[in-house]
Amino acid sequence: MIRSPLMTVMTDAVMKAARSLKRDFGEVENLQVSRKGPGNFVSAADHRAEEILRGALEKARPGYGLVLEETGVVEGTDATHRWHVDPLDGTTNFLHGIPHFCISVGLEREGQMVAGVIYDPIKDEMFVAERGKGAYLNNRRLRVAARRDMADSVVYCGLPHLGRPAHPRFLHEMAAVMAVSGGLRRMGSAALDMAYVAAGRADLYWERDLQTWDIAAGLVIVREAGGFVTDCEGGLNPMSTLSVCCGNEVLHRELLGLLKKPLAR
Ligand code: IPD
Ligand code: CA
Ligand code: CA
Repeated sequence: MIRSPLMTVMTDAVMKAARSLKRDFGEVENLQVSRKGPGNFVSAADHRAEEILRGALEKARPGYGLVLEETGVVEGTDATHRWHVDPLDGTTNFLHGIPHFCISVGLEREGQMVAGVIYDPIKDEMFVAERGKGAYLNNRRLRVAARRDMADSVVYCGLPHLGRPAHPRFLHEMAAVMAVSGGLRRMGSAALDMAYVAAGRADLYWERDLQTWDIAAGLVIVREAGGFVTDCEGGLNPMSTLSVCCGNEVLHRELLGLLKKPLAR
């Protein structure tokens, strides 16, 4: 576990918001739900958790900017630090009573992601990392899986849904990965997908059309667990291109090769 003042701020904020999410998950059928766009839902639970996170982070680090999924960008007086906050990653799961969702908080310093916390309140799993200090799940140090053969791998992905570009390309990629991998999964929480890569539960994960709050924390956690993270084109700054491809060095290279293959005519 990392015992630094920054980690304490982040994990305390997340635990506080998690209590609210857990309460709301227990009464999910009574929650107020609205649509932000086609296939994109938001509930009172998302808003409540975000308020708690915002309050705790602003109190502990006044002046830091925030990029909040539900509120938007809150400029800070400190131009060097910015939180990226997803108060509930996996809203669709949550609203369907599927116990697979999390809170994700990442800290950017001078354009670099330096710390991340992803918490699954149902399994009580806290994934944390700080640049240069390693990645942990509760008290256990994390390391990405060592598998080198794609045929043994479990690959996670995010599927486009109603309201997202339908990507003939995605179908092509999915077919290419299905043909060579041990299994494909769509779990429904981008942040947990990355945390699971760090923990060796997934060998690989790729997804396009994400947002900074989906991947900010996961980026640090996967890299600190020894994994490789790029965008789907191999670029090193997924926070600006908003797609992700990650895993261990060998399988990551192989997956990138599959994603880059041109569509057959
Ligand atoms: C979504 C989840 C999902 C991913 C979507 C995200 P939300 O976040 O992470 O797994 O496929 O791209 O938007 O809306 O539940 O916070
Ligand atoms: Ca999200
Ligand atoms: Ca969300």
